[in-house]
Amino acid sequence: TEIASDKVTKADVVGRYLSAHLTPLEHAEAFAPSNIALCKYWGKRQDELNLPVNSSLSISLAHLGSRTVIRPSATGEDKVILNAKVLDLDAPFASKVIAFVDLFRRQQDLPVIVDTRNNIPTAAGLASSASGFAALTLALNQYFQLQLPDNVLSAFARMGSGSASRSIFSGFVEWQMGLHEDGMDSHAYPLDVVWPDFRVGLVKVSTSQKAVDSRSGMKRTVATASLYQSWPAQAAQDLEKLHQALAQGDFTLLGSTAEHNAMSMHATMIASWPPLLYWQPDSVAAMQKVWALREAGIEVYFTMDAGPNLKLLFQAKDQALLETEFAGLEVVAPFSGAAARV
Ligand code: ADP
Ligand code: DP6
Ligand code: CO
Repeated sequence: TEIASDKVTKADVVGRYLSAHLTPLEHAEAFAPSNIALCKYWGKRQDELNLPVNSSLSISLAHLGSRTVIRPSATGEDKVILNAKVLDLDAPFASKVIAFVDLFRRQQDLPVIVDTRNNIPTAAGLASSASGFAALTLALNQYFQLQLPDNVLSAFARMGSGSASRSIFSGFVEWQMGLHEDGMDSHAYPLDVVWPDFRVGLVKVSTSQKAVDSRSGMKRTVATASLYQSWPAQAAQDLEKLHQALAQGDFTLLGSTAEHNAMSMHATMIASWPPLLYWQPDSVAAMQKVWALREAGIEVYFTMDAGPNLKLLFQAKDQALLETEFAGLEVVAPFSGAAARV
């Protein structure tokens, strides 16, 4: 039943939502949280639009993420600033940002300054592409006064980076894979679950830029790992378990499903050629520590993305203990305070 095609382009899709003349503001600003998947997005059925092989489910990281400001550029030249540093426009980071802006302004002569800040490490497996493209999408929506609904913003953010579709929302979020050729049914939506005791802890093994980015890592896995064939069914099953865990407030089911899902994804990475091993010795040491703590009766689980860092999943009652066990643990309480979105 799946319809996949490379004929539809991002520009075609975005173009349908634009009027002939854009009226930019003097200043637009948006924040989007980073997010960590409990059931991972791993593999695309269509590359141009970042259409996934499977649906996924994540938790947004509240105050951790990207803040992006867009202003008109008086010099007539585009400018991209990351963490207060002006980037070379030919650098991959800047050219990806400008290519995304181009989808919206098309041929119109509207030079911009895009000034973005990440309060998480960039390209280290802490989902900067998710918060980055979600914040950019939200800022563009404001800047060009498009007033697009959230599901459209989520689908547009997805075209920047798949995981960004989920960063339009806070709390637990599901990205439905969709079936349509233009991908407009492949967007995220927030789940109606509030879990005040739920905590995510970042174990920062290394915050330097990874050697193989998520995009090429997933491409390599799909192309070369025969183990990948078992992934779609595993993801579908895990998604069901996560729904059940969220409906019943079953932390054990949630944590064990997320950890199993992450390890299954990493198994497909390791089974790729050349092999993709995002782990470092300290990642393995942290995993073993988690398993030892569980043996000792502490309910802590982990998940990992395309990078060496672990994300611990636990409940508020165990926070103090885990902070002493994992030096430098950065703890996020996803449900405390207002939704992190401007
Ligand atoms: P991560 O694990 O951090 O998501 P990825 O390899 O998926 O790593 O993505 C990193 C890429 O995301 C960067 O090279 C850049 O293209 C993009 N990115 C990161 N932060 C931002 C931002 N604030 N604004 C726009 N794009 C961003
Ligand atoms: C392992 O969204 O970064 O973090 O769509 O190519 O930009 P692109 O990839 P990206 O991939 C994220 C992969 C993951 C799992 C997840 O976040 O679901
Ligand atoms: Co990413």
